[in-house]
Amino acid sequence: MRIRSIAAASGLLLGASAFILPAASAQAADHPHSPVTVAHRGASAYAPENTLAAVDAAAKLKIDWVENDVQRTKDGKLIVIHDTTLNRTTNVEEVFPGRAPWKVSDFTLKEIQRLDAGSWFNPKFTGERVPTLKQYMDRVSRNHQKLLLEFKAPELYPNIERETLNELRHQGWLNRQHVKHRLIIQSFNADSVKTTHELRPDVKTGFLGTPAVADLPKFAKFADQINPHFGSVDPEYVAAVKAVRGAHGKPLEVYTWTVDDAAVAVKVAKAGVTGIITNKPDVIRDAVSHKGKPGKPGKPGKNTSAQQVGAAA
Ligand code: G3P
Ligand code: CA
Repeated sequence: MRIRSIAAASGLLLGASAFILPAASAQAADHPHSPVTVAHRGASAYAPENTLAAVDAAAKLKIDWVENDVQRTKDGKLIVIHDTTLNRTTNVEEVFPGRAPWKVSDFTLKEIQRLDAGSWFNPKFTGERVPTLKQYMDRVSRNHQKLLLEFKAPELYPNIERETLNELRHQGWLNRQHVKHRLIIQSFNADSVKTTHELRPDVKTGFLGTPAVADLPKFAKFADQINPHFGSVDPEYVAAVKAVRGAHGKPLEVYTWTVDDAAVAVKVAKAGVTGIITNKPDVIRDAVSHKGKPGKPGKPGKNTSAQQVGAAA
């Protein structure tokens, strides 16, 4: 009859439209709740952290999102490095033995560019440099990747938010397309996140930490994400965060860090996080990609081998 035939026709149409979904949509439909995987300091289990090699290692694993840390040199240049001192991740003690405690802010860019930022990790990365923010952005752009940028210890670098935003603008990273899809700025320093939001309200921002649930509305005035250490993630906390609307009117997102263990990744995915920041993005992507329920471990993919990006081990 008529109703049955309409239903049958609709079924056919639905079947046809599902069949012609673009590959990306079909994949998204398969994995509706998989968290985004972010390569922490680049794919830093496989290449020296916060270097161009680490960005490339993530790209080789087909990881879109990379995380970095931005600080400032003595002569006011923006560079990408995690520690506020240079000695853990460079050979500064050899090159400048009399300059302890080797603070980033005590060295000019020219001096920092003399340092080897790769051999501490593995001799095969000898000659890798501490990148400027500009060099880093160029590489992320060339790889068609996306950036979770962290202001590291911004209290040491007054006005670093404005200077960084200026640099991002010069590099084309504050146009509509980038702001909407390819950039998030985060910090442990709430004032810095707030300043970033005030300077560029269109940019997506994240607060690193685990604020009390009662304080979430305060953070939501200037942040779109609350990004806690994985040890403080549980389903109740994640639900409480997601119940609050962030600075752009959408539910607050939760990107947790730093998860390198597949079982922990599955656990936090089940708790409902929207992103996982990891040194081993291949391992974590495979753990949380699945064809079934959220958090069900997936089979290792084709690009899971650390050897493919030249693992140090
Ligand atoms: O992105 C989160 C994570 O980077 C925070 O910790 O110390 O690695 O910068 P840290
Ligand atoms: Ca960081």
